Amino acid sequence: MQELTIRRPDDWHLHLRDGAMLEAVLPHTSRHFARAIIMPNLVPHVATTAMAADYRARIEKALPEGDDFTPLMTLYLTEDTDAEDVVAGHRSGEITAVKLYPAGATTNSHSGVRNIETVYPVFERMAEAGVPLCVHGEVTDPEIDIFDREAVFIERVLDPVRQRFPDLRIIMEHITTSDGIDFVENGPEGIGGTITTHHLIINRNAILAGGIRPHYYCLPVAKRESHRLALRRAATSGNRRFFLGTDSAPHIDPAKESACGCAGVFSAINTMACLAHVFEEEGALDRLEAFVSLNGPAFYGLPANEERIRLIRRDEPVQYPERIETGLGPVTVFDPMFPLHWDVVQD
Ligand code: DOR
Ligand code: ZN
Repeated sequence: MQELTIRRPDDWHLHLRDGAMLEAVLPHTSRHFARAIIMPNLVPHVATTAMAADYRARIEKALPEGDDFTPLMTLYLTEDTDAEDVVAGHRSGEITAVKLYPAGATTNSHSGVRNIETVYPVFERMAEAGVPLCVHGEVTDPEIDIFDREAVFIERVLDPVRQRFPDLRIIMEHITTSDGIDFVENGPEGIGGTITTHHLIINRNAILAGGIRPHYYCLPVAKRESHRLALRRAATSGNRRFFLGTDSAPHIDPAKESACGCAGVFSAINTMACLAHVFEEEGALDRLEAFVSLNGPAFYGLPANEERIRLIRRDEPVQYPERIETGLGPVTVFDPMFPLHWDVVQD
């Protein structure tokens, strides 16, 4: 039996949804994680600081008794976003970051940004005020192959924004390509990147080879193996620019197992077990804490958590549920396709 004690982790990209779904999924994150960046792609989207404050209150109300968890709220950037509301919301501590969805890129992104230059005045104020920008980095141009959308986004949107606003803190979220890794690794200070658990484990074969497997479909879609290996190298390198954002994104099974299934992988339950497995495979267990507990807060200018969690490697595989019930329907849990031996224990 092997053991590892690390500071309590944070999740720098999480979908909690609302109502019954929020109640069902939140305990699986708050059990292990101290904080999470909460995605604003609800219906209606979280457009203002006042809406973020209401949403935060609903999350806090749904928290299991005794769980110590801080939701870090984000605003959904639209072409009508009021920069002064953003800055005031950040200054008051109500919001931690702003989220850029290119319109049409993913779930509930239709109110997102169509023409990036229309939001440049907001970026200017954010850069001055030190408000970080979380980015869904995919173009929506139908001419661009879905597997190339991240690389083209970097070239057409992200790099120009970075050059125009050198002081803007940017998080390239859920990186899925070596192009994304290169962009973050070689960029100036102030550029960070999150990597999901599932993108460290699956490549696109998981979705498409031997049958179509909707529970592995997410956006950005998993890429070929060479990209997965680049993500593994970055995540396990200890490089301070890379940190965990699970992008755990629950959808009920009928919405996934459909002729036009939703994008999203629900991994909140077994994320830490999966990550310990990956870092162990890479001979990098000593760098797991940097990825899940240290690099993220350092980037956001927040203290690392003082509490610890203990990971234990059991000889027998640990059983995680295949799906959870939510009141709206079942949600399938991410299956890494290997037995999980790691267990998280709270002291
Ligand atoms: O797979 C995804 N699911 N990617 C996203 O960008 C959104 C998310 C969701 O909200 O379901
Ligand atoms: Zn997401």
